[in-house]
Amino acid sequence: MTALYCVFGNPVGHSRSPDIHHAFAGQRGDDIRYEKREAPLEDFAGAVKAFRQAGGLGANVTVPFKEQAFELCHAVTERAGQAAAVNTLWWDGDQLHGDNTDGAGMVKDIRDNQGWTIHQKRVLILGAGGAVRGVMGPLLAEQPTLVRIANRTEEKAAILARGFMDGNNPPVLGSGLDTLTGQFDLVINAISAGLHGEMPALPDGLLAEGAVAYDMVYGSEPTPFMRWANEQGAAATADGLGMLVEQAAEAFEIWRGWRPDTGPVMAMLR
Ligand code: ATR
Repeated sequence: MTALYCVFGNPVGHSRSPDIHHAFAGQRGDDIRYEKREAPLEDFAGAVKAFRQAGGLGANVTVPFKEQAFELCHAVTERAGQAAAVNTLWWDGDQLHGDNTDGAGMVKDIRDNQGWTIHQKRVLILGAGGAVRGVMGPLLAEQPTLVRIANRTEEKAAILARGFMDGNNPPVLGSGLDTLTGQFDLVINAISAGLHGEMPALPDGLLAEGAVAYDMVYGSEPTPFMRWANEQGAAATADGLGMLVEQAAEAFEIWRGWRPDTGPVMAMLR
């Protein structure tokens, strides 16, 4: 019988997830159907219930439902708890389970696909929204020297940083964008404005010798953030297409019990 999965979002029309999961399934001839489901803004819970009743086995969740998905779950993984957001759902009988694979996907792309080091590096993150909270746990688990979160609204960066300050983590510090100082080895962009072709003004000199720059956003050409990083002398830049495919692979493995090969799927999407 065909196994049914979906991605919930609103809007969801642009999602590449069906292509990615069908390509994964094809690697072993798994019979799956993966749909896009646009959930109504005011009734995400109803959409999840209807999908389960239609025989759904698992789902991905994208903007703007990740926090609601977290609230809906009966049980979540530790990293989903840290993120207070869920991007992967599955059922065990009546029990709805949730995980957040975004951070693991980003770390895997940075570390294994790009071959960049996070361990003992100074990390700068631009932005302090849901995308940042979603990746902080797995990022900190790599034990960078420090993580600075810089955001237009400084208070949001400070609050987010405080939430991840504990004795076992490397130092996490919040600041504004314009007051930003220091030098960093890895700069990660999570400002959603990057999607629309603008980059906020940033001070010069933030990139240390050999620094690399990663944009969580992806596009058919280098993003505004990647262009900025190149102008600032970055040794390498990458967009977030690999993160998209790696977070999907993590979800697929939870659902199907085997790990798909991400390389060919990234090549297909490019
Ligand atoms: P996401 O899920 O993508 O993180 P979000 O939670 O809405 O979405 O967060 C958007 C992020 O992009 C925030 O850090 C936001 O900054 P503020 O907290 O100050 O709003 C940032 N952002 C959006 N537009 C921006 C702009 N034009 N300049 C600077 N930062 C911007």
